[in-house]
Amino acid sequence: MARSGVLLLALLAAAAVAQAARKPAYQQVSNARKGDLVSSEPTKYKNTKPLIGVLTQPCHECPGKSYIAAGYVKWIEMGGGRAVPVRFYASDSELHRLFKSLNGLVFPGGLTWLWLDSPYVLAARKLFNWALQANDAGDVFPIHGTCLGFQLLHILASNISRNDLLVDTDSVAHPTTLEWTQHTNGSRLFKDLPADLYSKLADAKYNIALQNHMYGIPPSFYQRFPVLAKWYKPLSTTKDRNGTEYISTMEGIKYPFFGTQWHPEKPPYEFGMEEVPHSLDAIRVSQHLSNVFMEHARMSSHKPESKEEELAMQIYSTPPIFSARFEVMDEENYDGPDITYYFDQPDKPPHGPDDDEGEDSGPTRADHAAEERLKEEEEEGEERDSEEAKRKLHYKFWSTQKGIF
Ligand SMILES: *[C@@H]1O[C@H](CO)[C@@H](O)[C@H](O)[C@H]1NC(C)=O
Ligand SMILES: *[C@@H]1O[C@H](CO)[C@@H](O)[C@H](O)[C@H]1NC(C)=O
Ligand SMILES: *[C@@H]1O[C@H](CO)[C@@H](O)[C@H](O)[C@H]1NC(C)=O
Repeated sequence: MARSGVLLLALLAAAAVAQAARKPAYQQVSNARKGDLVSSEPTKYKNTKPLIGVLTQPCHECPGKSYIAAGYVKWIEMGGGRAVPVRFYASDSELHRLFKSLNGLVFPGGLTWLWLDSPYVLAARKLFNWALQANDAGDVFPIHGTCLGFQLLHILASNISRNDLLVDTDSVAHPTTLEWTQHTNGSRLFKDLPADLYSKLADAKYNIALQNHMYGIPPSFYQRFPVLAKWYKPLSTTKDRNGTEYISTMEGIKYPFFGTQWHPEKPPYEFGMEEVPHSLDAIRVSQHLSNVFMEHARMSSHKPESKEEELAMQIYSTPPIFSARFEVMDEENYDGPDITYYFDQPDKPPHGPDDDEGEDSGPTRADHAAEERLKEEEEEGEERDSEEAKRKLHYKFWSTQKGIF
């Protein structure tokens, strides 16, 4: 007993001597003067803590005026960024104040109907125009559009009506391949893609790219509407279940804008829908796209005016809701987001079919029975702010959507 105790003490003493001789890494860091950059590449970046705006999507009969599916937030974090909600109904001055603090922007997927004069497209256009100005002035400002956001980038560049730009595709919940174009290898998005992923993304044995959309843009439309080919180069095409071909990835020719009709953010973060691939390869593709985007965002010199503003603008003051937990009970293949952020008080629900033809609405709207139930609830009492009412609204919202987000 006593002998092993002495041995232990001797060992500890020896370890202490060894430690003192070799300066631990944390001491080297703490010895640096305050304000010194510890980064290995201190001069490469304009910032190393990118703040990335995500344009919220409108929602009706949900526990907020707008929402963000958390997968986009986490996809930003994956590459070293921090997410900032950008409400599409914010005032011009609020939008501009945010823009000056942001280092990039994500246009997420969703169900919003992209009329040129809808509040959603108008807000996106302002941000898009400021991004052009920043880039033209040499201050890098990347935008990534996913799914609906991919379509939005085309609309903003061309002012083509969504009815002329988009064709029907059979590609909801469709894990599939990307067929590369002659532009792929030299592109910002894919030039550093590991060679095995380059092969696997094109290989139907893997089907890594998750498509989840009802509309697409055929490659021939880049000839039909030459303005599109001036702005963007197609990096991949994909065929829907029916053989209809559409552009599945593009990037800006002049600007650091990227668009995926497919969903790189789902494999690591969305588990409700059976079809989402979760292989290591699917995760690596997601990480690659996040890394490329964020590497551009680190070249942006925008920054918030104060620490207070920097903290206040981030999404983390809003508690997310674990959507899948409330949704999947009787729904085997839940295709809403696993986790959702809601913002602001809900708009009053529409009270008739005419109100439903809103400019920011898609074809898939809540059924009228749900509206009636909601009206009854409202009459029953002012419980809309209660957690239970929020949960019910949340359930109604996602159970009436078709999972395109
Ligand atoms: C699209 O319309 C906006 C105004 O709504 C205008 O500023 C922009 O220049 C137009 N773009 C093209 C490509 O026509
Ligand atoms: C699938 O193809 C058939 C035959 O070409 C066509 O009639 C149908 O509209 C297509 N469906 C979709 C969703 O594109
Ligand atoms: C692009 O790069 C991949 C892998 O690096 C290669 O296999 C392929 O042949 C290249 N394609 C073209 C069109 O150069």
